[in-house]
Amino acid sequence: MKVPKHLAIIMDGNGRWAKERGLPRIAGHYEGVRRAEEVVEACIDLNIKWLTLFAFSTENWKRPEGEVKALMRLLEGYIRQNAKRLTEKGLRVSFVGRRDRLPESLVREMEKVERLRPKQEKLHVILAVDYGGRDEIIRTIRKMIETGSQIDESSFKLLSDFSQIPDPDLLIRTGGERRISNFLLWHLAYTELYFTDTYWPDFRREDLLKAIEDFSRRERKFGAVL
Ligand code: IPE
Ligand code: IPE
Ligand code: MG
Repeated sequence: MKVPKHLAIIMDGNGRWAKERGLPRIAGHYEGVRRAEEVVEACIDLNIKWLTLFAFSTENWKRPEGEVKALMRLLEGYIRQNAKRLTEKGLRVSFVGRRDRLPESLVREMEKVERLRPKQEKLHVILAVDYGGRDEIIRTIRKMIETGSQIDESSFKLLSDFSQIPDPDLLIRTGGERRISNFLLWHLAYTELYFTDTYWPDFRREDLLKAIEDFSRRERKFGAVL
C-alpha cells in the first residue's frame, strides 16, 4: 500500500461528539487527545514520517473564554506529563503557528519539548497551535522582507513554519465539514484531500487505514500528463 510520508489532520467534531452524549464540549477535547495518541501510534506502525495535527486555529479565540482556557490547559498539561515518554518512544514534537498570544507557561512547555530529541526519530509530530494559513503566509512574507530574501517559492517554503518539512501528501478532515478552515493554505497546493463524517473522538485506527487505502488508489499528477 502507498502510504503518505506527511499526513495532516483537521481533528474536527469534538464538540458535537460531546453534545450528543450530553457532555460539556471539553469532554470531547479530552477524548480527542486519546484519538490523537492512537493515530500517532498507527503512524509509527505505518512508517509515516511527519504528522501535522490542527489543534487550535487563529480563529478559535472566538470561542467562549471557558473553552479556550480549558483547551490551553489541556494542551499544557498533556505536554508537561508526556513529553519525556513521547521522546523515548521516538517522537520529535514541534509547533507551528503564533506564540505571542498563548499563555507564557504553555509557550515554555512547548519550547522545552521542542528541545528534546529522540535517539532515533521515528515520527515528527507537528502541532498547529494558534495557527492560521493566512497568518503563516503574512509572517513568512514579513521574514522575506526583513532578511532581504529572494521572492520565489523555494525561499517562501524555507522561511515558512514548514521550512524543512515536505508538503503534506494527504489531508484528512473528520467531523463532516468539507472545508479547509484556514489550515495549511500554502502547503496544500497538491495535497490529496479526504473528508469523513466521523467525529474526531470516534476516529479509530481502522478509519485511518481506510483513508490511507483511499489515498493509495489516487493518481497524483501534479499538473503533468502521465
Ligand atoms: C475540533 O473540534 C477541535 C478544536 C477546534 C480545538 P470542535 O471543537 O470544532 O468540534 P465541533 O466542530 O464543534 O463539533
Ligand atoms: C478547525 O476546526 C480547527 C481545528 C480543528 C483546530 P473549526 O471547528 O474551528 O472550523 P470551522 O469553524 O468549522 O470552520
Ligand atoms: Mg469544529
